[in-house]
Amino acid sequence: LLFALLLCALGYLSGSILFAPLVCQLLNAPPPHLYGSRNPGATNVYRIAGPGPAGLTLLGDALKGWAPVTLAQYLDVSPATQAAVALAAIAGHMLPAFSRFRGGKGVATTLGTGLALAAGTILTMALIWLLVFRQWRIASLASIVAAGSGPVFAFLLNPPHTGVFLVIALVLFVRHRDNLVRLAQGSESHL
Ligand code: G3P
Repeated sequence: LLFALLLCALGYLSGSILFAPLVCQLLNAPPPHLYGSRNPGATNVYRIAGPGPAGLTLLGDALKGWAPVTLAQYLDVSPATQAAVALAAIAGHMLPAFSRFRGGKGVATTLGTGLALAAGTILTMALIWLLVFRQWRIASLASIVAAGSGPVFAFLLNPPHTGVFLVIALVLFVRHRDNLVRLAQGSESHL
């Protein structure tokens, strides 16, 4: 149990590294928490600095989720512990220790942890994200629909991880509550 907790702590600390402010600082772009949706994530970096920096943010935020779960798998811990490490990394991104607990919405970090944990499920979710985004050009809508589809695809493709994708869907909905209000009002930003 101690070992599992240690891996979760590592996952949390890894998740706590926010790539959006790092990338913006590196490129002398305005800080994400002051512009656009004020969210430290790839979508908002896209608004501030364009596709390249947004891609870099997506990559970094995904990698920091992928790495601790892959480490846990390498150390051959139980699937439940791997799922807990994934949740810890996502929690780190949402409530980061290094940024006064003001974090992002967890979409890119979910992508990274999912690639390690349940590739079939996450790739199908990514496809849903792309299809919704191509239709409406609204990142938050794509994220919300993809997150909601997660437990269904997990049930079909990676049954042991249905529970963790259900938890992820719930926390992603909560983190997108401002977006949900804007979507309902018809005022959410198109990219
Ligand atoms: O991945 C975050 C996205 O779903 C919404 O971002 O900046 O539009 O709130 P944003």
